[in-house]
Amino acid sequence: MVPELNYSEAASRGQQESSGPVPNSEQTEPLASRRRIIVGITGASGAIYGVRLLERLRRPGVEIHLLLSRSGVRTLEMETGMRLAEVKALADFHYPIHDVGARLASGSFPVDAMVIAPCSVRTMSAIAAGLSSNLLLRAADVTLKERRKLILMVRESPLHLGHLRTLVALTEMGAIIAPPIPAFYHRPQTVMDLVDYSVERVLDLLGLPARDARRWDP
Ligand SMILES: Cc1cc2nc3c(=O)[nH]c(=O)nc-3n(C[C@H](O)[C@H](O)[C@H](O)COP(=O)(O)O)c2cc1C
Repeated sequence: MVPELNYSEAASRGQQESSGPVPNSEQTEPLASRRRIIVGITGASGAIYGVRLLERLRRPGVEIHLLLSRSGVRTLEMETGMRLAEVKALADFHYPIHDVGARLASGSFPVDAMVIAPCSVRTMSAIAAGLSSNLLLRAADVTLKERRKLILMVRESPLHLGHLRTLVALTEMGAIIAPPIPAFYHRPQTVMDLVDYSVERVLDLLGLPARDARRWDP
């Protein structure tokens, strides 16, 4: 049974957002020692991956910039019951998705890496084609052109040949494809154990490993 959606309210909240970054906090560490990470949440199933990534990135020395696609807002509310405002509060800055003139749209704004968690096939395909029609897509394109780390938690199954070719093309462009595929050697007991496993692998890829990460170490 699909829960009742209040998408129109979420969409209008998004439309009412003012332009420019919205700060949630003032980081005290100097810029040189700070890791600046963009987190994108798109409309693939698994909004919880994005939420959990935000929660586990929140630590001194990490500055989080958040972007949600319209469909990402929809799946977030459907799948987690969380309000958009709660998720935005997990980041240091968040931006209206339509604001292609925001600082994340320029390679001159220094960023260390970008993760899209989860990443829809639509967003994956648009990045591969260089279609920068919203700020999330533009930020991903900038990440690639500046040869920065772009990690895509692509979630779809099964995959047709076009999907597979797109994944190859993105890998050739320098992106890291990190689908949220669970492992079972750590004997997960809860859904969050499964979610955390994939998030911890992404934190490893970012060079920001979790201290309590589950690892194969027989
Ligand atoms: C409940 C729900 C689950 C979805 N799951 C997926 C999915 O797992 N993978 C995917 O690629 N698209 C999925 N979609 C479709 C995307 O939301 C849709 O293609 C959308 O246009 C993606 O837009 P975005 O990339 O701008 O977020 C889902 C949609 C809904 C409503």
